[in-house]
Amino acid sequence: MLNLIFFGPPGVGKGTQAARVAKYYDLVHVSTGDILREEIKLETELGLKVKDIIASGELVPDEFLIEVLENTCSKHPGAKGFVFDGFPRTLRQAEALDELMKRQDCKIAKVISLEVPEDELLRRLVNRAIEQGRTDDTAEVIKNRLIVYQKHTKPLIDYYKRKNIFIEVPGVGTIGSIFASLCKVIENH
Ligand code: C5P
Ligand code: MG
Repeated sequence: MLNLIFFGPPGVGKGTQAARVAKYYDLVHVSTGDILREEIKLETELGLKVKDIIASGELVPDEFLIEVLENTCSKHPGAKGFVFDGFPRTLRQAEALDELMKRQDCKIAKVISLEVPEDELLRRLVNRAIEQGRTDDTAEVIKNRLIVYQKHTKPLIDYYKRKNIFIEVPGVGTIGSIFASLCKVIENH
């Protein structure tokens, strides 16, 4: 199995690249943000619970995310691997993912961090707001999501560095050139 995590603050291009990588290597793309947005659209019980949290840019409680993770992975028993995008966001989520991997007798091969300067990040998020109309892409909520990233998610860098699987890849350039750098990193293990 090949299991990867796409890591980084909102707007670095995790979703775009994770989708391409998953398609190219025939892996399952797990975007927890997309899954939650779909739950909101369908007005499920979970969707109703997380709607306001997402709109504010805060994090959805770990137990919800861990359930989403387990449900999603169990739907793909024969998968060649998973590309996690936007998950884990907290230490507890990272530990839950490790446990899930252990239970399946596999592991995370690499945590790929896309590196993009902050002014470029903001520019992309503002563009995405115009193009996709996400409720959490307003200036104020974007600011909060970046603060939440610094506080809860950035500490995971050390967690994965200690496991020797953390890799930084420049996230600026064309979608194709970034994808090419990613393939090199993924095949080079
Ligand atoms: O990953 P993405 O940026 O699409 O996630 C959108 C929102 O979903 C986050 O800002 C957060 O409110 C929620 N989320 C979360 N925990 C995750 C993934 C997403 O709380 N692991
Ligand atoms: Mg995304």
